[in-house]
Amino acid sequence: MSADASPPVDQKSAVTLADTAEEALFSQRVLIRSIICRPDGGSGLAGQKVRVGGWVKTGREQGKGSFAFLELNDGSCPANLQVMVDAAVAPLGQLVATGTCVHVEGELKEPPEGAKQRIELRVEKVLEVGTVDPAKYPLPKTRLTLEFLRDCVHLRPRTNTISAIARIRNALAYATHTFFQKHGFLYVHTPIITTSDCEGAGEMFQVTTLINDAEKLEKELIKNPPPSEADLESAILLVKDKGEAVAQLKSAKTSKEEINAAVAELTKAKENLSKLEERSKLKPGIPQKDGKIDYSLDFFARQAFLTVSGQLQVETFACCLGSVYTFGPTFRAEHSHTSRHLAEFWMVEPEIAFADLEDDMKCAEAYVKFMCQWLLDNCLDDMEFMVKNFDKSAIDRLRLVASTDFVRLSYTEAIAILEESSKERQFENKVEWGIDLASEHERFLTDVKFKSPVIVYNYPKGIKAFYMKVNADNKTVAAMDVLVPKVGELIGGSQREERYEVIQERILEMGLPLEPYEWYLDLRRYGTVKHSGFGLGFERMILFATGLDNIRDVIPFPRYPGRADL
Ligand code: 4AD
Ligand code: MG
Repeated sequence: MSADASPPVDQKSAVTLADTAEEALFSQRVLIRSIICRPDGGSGLAGQKVRVGGWVKTGREQGKGSFAFLELNDGSCPANLQVMVDAAVAPLGQLVATGTCVHVEGELKEPPEGAKQRIELRVEKVLEVGTVDPAKYPLPKTRLTLEFLRDCVHLRPRTNTISAIARIRNALAYATHTFFQKHGFLYVHTPIITTSDCEGAGEMFQVTTLINDAEKLEKELIKNPPPSEADLESAILLVKDKGEAVAQLKSAKTSKEEINAAVAELTKAKENLSKLEERSKLKPGIPQKDGKIDYSLDFFARQAFLTVSGQLQVETFACCLGSVYTFGPTFRAEHSHTSRHLAEFWMVEPEIAFADLEDDMKCAEAYVKFMCQWLLDNCLDDMEFMVKNFDKSAIDRLRLVASTDFVRLSYTEAIAILEESSKERQFENKVEWGIDLASEHERFLTDVKFKSPVIVYNYPKGIKAFYMKVNADNKTVAAMDVLVPKVGELIGGSQREERYEVIQERILEMGLPLEPYEWYLDLRRYGTVKHSGFGLGFERMILFATGLDNIRDVIPFPRYPGRADL
């Protein structure tokens, strides 16, 4: 079949049912997924010659060392291809160790009756081997805990769990772009380095070159000390001498050549002096002015930070392009050691013009539902792995969320429910109007009371960010949080305050400086528009989907207090 013809698609795993096993376009192998994830388990491909490449999950020599079976995984799906190698083809000892990489060529054959798999590969030629010394390989075959794997982030993608999460994560990213593109949203890249604190919570990592500059200078000054007073004085004297020599030659009307030569020497002496003067001004340490750090000498000539959210910047595009979204890494220097917080996490942030809180909630609900359905349609084999190994209810939860309406409660209603139930159960954090909901409260609403996602809206303005629209009651803001079972807060969003005077007042009220937000205020000064948006914590979505317990296991390279490996 030609590469651009559309073959039939298996809905469950989206593997095409080609008659022949085609090599991947940019790789010298047939993907194992395209062999064994077909509805016929690959048996329809028996008799075909293929090349495959992957890593040995388990290998064993059999028949007194006359042949070996390898369970080969290439990351394209959770399942392994069984590969049989004859001792005559290659030395078996170097192939069977867990973690070995092999690239082999052979014939697909139906295994004998009664075998578990529907197809296996009989190797005719071993093309490449990346050997492993089993005595030293950090990931032995025994079942490894996720905690253990966190100390080995560079090799953990080789485990079934971390590779399944990687595929689920990829699927959710694809679903995200598909959903927003389908609804006419434009993908906007917002900056990672910023000068404004979106949440106003002061949890930003600072970006500065002042420290490395100071360290570099310190080293340089040790190697090459600044000039002494005496060095400077003699350089000044030399300039004076050379100056006088030029004056004398000029008054004696000496030849042009001689004068030019003397002028050149004077210039050299002046240059040397100014270099020494410059160096004598160099002071070790971070530059200060009026007792404070002098950021005018920093890389951006002002203080700069890693972004906590792309919202403020993406609003600039929403206020002219209408419907936009940003999806990128965000950073928070919170010292939280919880299983729900990372210092670096990814956020999906749509922003919609001519939209109020109701539209925002509708969009959030549709997007979460879309992602759940997407995983059911495209990632079922990985989800089945999660159900088998981590969370029996993971697939049921996706089905439930994809098909049922989210409960909606105002914050005031939520507090009333929590107050009512605190008569029977003890919450660690006291419930009263005005508190920020603690995760035990959120989990009570989603896991106990409603057993469904819950959207809580209209929060007290005192506990929410400055940019949220103040409601007519002047006590609450048009904020909404989407809470989901198992995880708690998945999404935080709001209708934005579009009234210039009100938002300016809110910034001041919160004790924030106006200067970094002047550009943001311009969006309200000129052509202001009602608009809304939200942020979905991407890792929280993966936690929700997979049922894993710790957010550190669903991001490839977790960063949290005390840890930033690789
Ligand atoms: O509720 P948050 O702080 O909202 C914002 O940042 C808004 N500016 C978004 C917007 O309206 N465009 O964060 C949004 C979501 C949270 O609901 C949570 O899922 C996730 O981001 N989140 C974190 N995820 C992992 N680690 C952390 N430290 C997180 N902090 C927030
Ligand atoms: Mg929030």
